[in-house]
Amino acid sequence: MFKFVVKGTAFSSIDSKNVAIFENHLFCISETGMISKIISPEEREYASMIQEYSLNNKFQELPQGQYILPGFIDLHIHAPQWAQAGTALDLPLYDWLNTYTFPLEAKFSDAQFAEKVYSDLVEQLIKNGTTTALYFATVHRKSSLLLAEICSEKGQRGLVGKVVMDDQEQNPDYYRDATSDVALAETELFIQEVIELNKQTPQGVYPVVTPRFIPSCTDDSLKGLGALAAKYDVHIQSHCSESDWAHSFVQERFGKNDAFALNDFGLLTEKAVMAHCGFLSDEDMKLFSEKGTAVAHCPISNAYFGNAVTPIAKLLNEYQVETGLGSDISGGFSPSLFDNIRQAVISSRMLADGVDKDCCSEKRGVSGSSITLNEAFYLATAGGGESLSLPIGKLAVDYAWDVQIIDSKRLPIFSEEEPLMDVFQKILYLARPENIEEVWIQGRKVHDKNTRELEVQK
Ligand code: GUN
Ligand code: FE
Repeated sequence: MFKFVVKGTAFSSIDSKNVAIFENHLFCISETGMISKIISPEEREYASMIQEYSLNNKFQELPQGQYILPGFIDLHIHAPQWAQAGTALDLPLYDWLNTYTFPLEAKFSDAQFAEKVYSDLVEQLIKNGTTTALYFATVHRKSSLLLAEICSEKGQRGLVGKVVMDDQEQNPDYYRDATSDVALAETELFIQEVIELNKQTPQGVYPVVTPRFIPSCTDDSLKGLGALAAKYDVHIQSHCSESDWAHSFVQERFGKNDAFALNDFGLLTEKAVMAHCGFLSDEDMKLFSEKGTAVAHCPISNAYFGNAVTPIAKLLNEYQVETGLGSDISGGFSPSLFDNIRQAVISSRMLADGVDKDCCSEKRGVSGSSITLNEAFYLATAGGGESLSLPIGKLAVDYAWDVQIIDSKRLPIFSEEEPLMDVFQKILYLARPENIEEVWIQGRKVHDKNTRELEVQK
């Protein structure tokens, strides 16, 4: 017996290059919100399943023009920075952190303020089709836990990190961990609290060891965090080789790139996700590949702070590095992974062609760098799931029923014979939150556009 059965047409990545179309398939969802079976119209039990589950009121058939996509996985997002999204993008990374971002994040010592921002963010992400997010919170343990609680309550799968930044020289007095011992003790307590919370959270909430980036942390805290990640077998996240400045800082401090420095502290693991990675060398990429560490590509943010375009085609094709997509709110202004899919394709094409007309065309770009829309979709879905080592991001048996239902009626589709791959591309390039009808996470409906609008009308 299944909890319910959904009939509809769906799109899901097979691998980084290919997308499968499930036309009018039945998706059979278990009591625990997993996809237990997928039945095609050619199969013998197709008609009887529809009949049986309709009789029991456990059957949903999508109307004409609606399509199922896997929910998106935001692999890098700073929850507190939602309060400044869309602003403060006029300075380079170092000045941006000190002028705008640290003062904002310091305000999250106030739980009421945190509750307001975090509740709104989680709701907005769900409405934008993001079913899983890997969050940086702030240095404050209590409000970081609050973010995990809000994810738990609103039904989103959340991986949350209490940020560690303990270097007294690099961080302002008003916003840092008092000492490395305090940073490690608070992180350990946070891990234990979130593991407890996970026990009553069907979709899962996970603690994440989170050194902000090497420049903000002492050797002691980096070493201790690597040990904590191993002790509890939890996820790790940080920023890695993000910009000219951040990359050079680590070279000066350790005489090596971020990747090898992080690895020395036990911070490059199968469950680690490193944001940006615009300045990885070939050796760094090889190390990522060997360790199973993932890259969170944040194409909108990189256009502001990255000083370079991350070579995603090379990471995927040459080194088989696990790679996903991040909004990097608020280095990136948009909470939508649709927007980031679009920018990932655009940035890769600009890297491939080059941008300076005064440079001759043969030398202008980096050939082989462009990625396809299918590849960008993969990053936002299956690539994110693999990066987190969780059964999400794909429509396949034993994966979670984490989906967004897209209504294509308001998209420029003028013929019932439109090829489904064209519909898919129009959805990815043109869909907006108003086209997202419903969002489901772990077999539970967490957003219904029409119900929400009715509530607002009341
Ligand atoms: N490096 C260290 N902190 C940050 C941050 O908050 N955003 C980005 N984009 N890079 C960082
Ligand atoms: Fe970031």
